[in-house]
Amino acid sequence: MPVPTSRTNECGRIKIDEIRCNGCGLCITVCKDCSISLENKKAKIAATPLFGCLACGHCMMICPQEAITVEGRCTSEEHMLDVPSSEEAASYEELLNLLYRRRSIREFKDIPVEKELINKVVEAAQTAPMGLPPSDVHLLIFDNREKVSAFAKDFCEYLEGFKWFVSKWFLALMRPFYGKEYTSFLKSFVRPCVKAFTGFMKRDINIVNYDAPVGLYFYGSPYIDPADPLIAATYAMLSAESLGLSTCFIGAIHPFIQNGKAAKRFREKYGIRYKSQGGIFLLMGYPDVKYKKTIKRSFAAVDWR
Ligand SMILES: Cc1cc2nc3c(=O)[nH]c(=O)nc-3n(C[C@H](O)[C@H](O)[C@H](O)COP(=O)(O)O)c2cc1C
Repeated sequence: MPVPTSRTNECGRIKIDEIRCNGCGLCITVCKDCSISLENKKAKIAATPLFGCLACGHCMMICPQEAITVEGRCTSEEHMLDVPSSEEAASYEELLNLLYRRRSIREFKDIPVEKELINKVVEAAQTAPMGLPPSDVHLLIFDNREKVSAFAKDFCEYLEGFKWFVSKWFLALMRPFYGKEYTSFLKSFVRPCVKAFTGFMKRDINIVNYDAPVGLYFYGSPYIDPADPLIAATYAMLSAESLGLSTCFIGAIHPFIQNGKAAKRFREKYGIRYKSQGGIFLLMGYPDVKYKKTIKRSFAAVDWR
């Protein structure tokens, strides 16, 4: 039975050229769906796969004989590329330097980001892994400052209707259902956020998305692993950095536009196709500030077992 996503409801179709197959078994090693088995020293389509081919393409990509093709689920032989050599790829030090150079930037130069660069970032983000192929990440691009700012204004107007959600009486009522930690998060972070977003916007100061030159909203369909849009956005963030652009995640929009009729209307207005468990905005543009130092950070815990 195929695993559905918003894009597909079929299994991948694996084709094996028996003449080319040399029975090395690499395709069987990498296929975790057990879609392929070895019979008489030849790879064959297995009768009882785990889910049905997800079209991850691993069997096709690893075959030294180019004897396998996978079609369907938005995958095809035509999508295969040569693997870049390790010399062409970034070294650990180069990558670490890029990571240390990155800062969340909220002060952007008022110059547009070239469409070519936006496309490059999108291409890089599309290399991100996903819970289940094919990716069910949806991307909404606001490609200039006017559009980004107009969205923030509209969002703040929409938020005005949301104030009851973080009001004293509502949080007191919901405390037994929300629990201590979530209630305190709503009180100490979300309530001031709503107040600040709407209050500042009334004075024409945009602290929702800081009038960035580009806004990228990554979200998913109801089928998706909620982590997928965040991982894709992280790839976008790092590739933008490598192109001399700066970025900032904005997590404070997505949760507000998920539930209820007003949220649905708001989503529809922007062509946002789904409410989604996971989603995030990424601002992008040329930085108008330069940091002198970077910073070493730590996780809450790193436990070795
Ligand atoms: C999931 C997530 C959500 C975030 N949401 C916001 C946000 O809504 N507004 C904002 O100004 N920064 C946001 N940030 C940026 C963080 O505030 C920032 O990463 C943090 O202050 C550390 O700074 P650095 O990224 O320069 O190391 C978010 C970051 C992440 C990872």
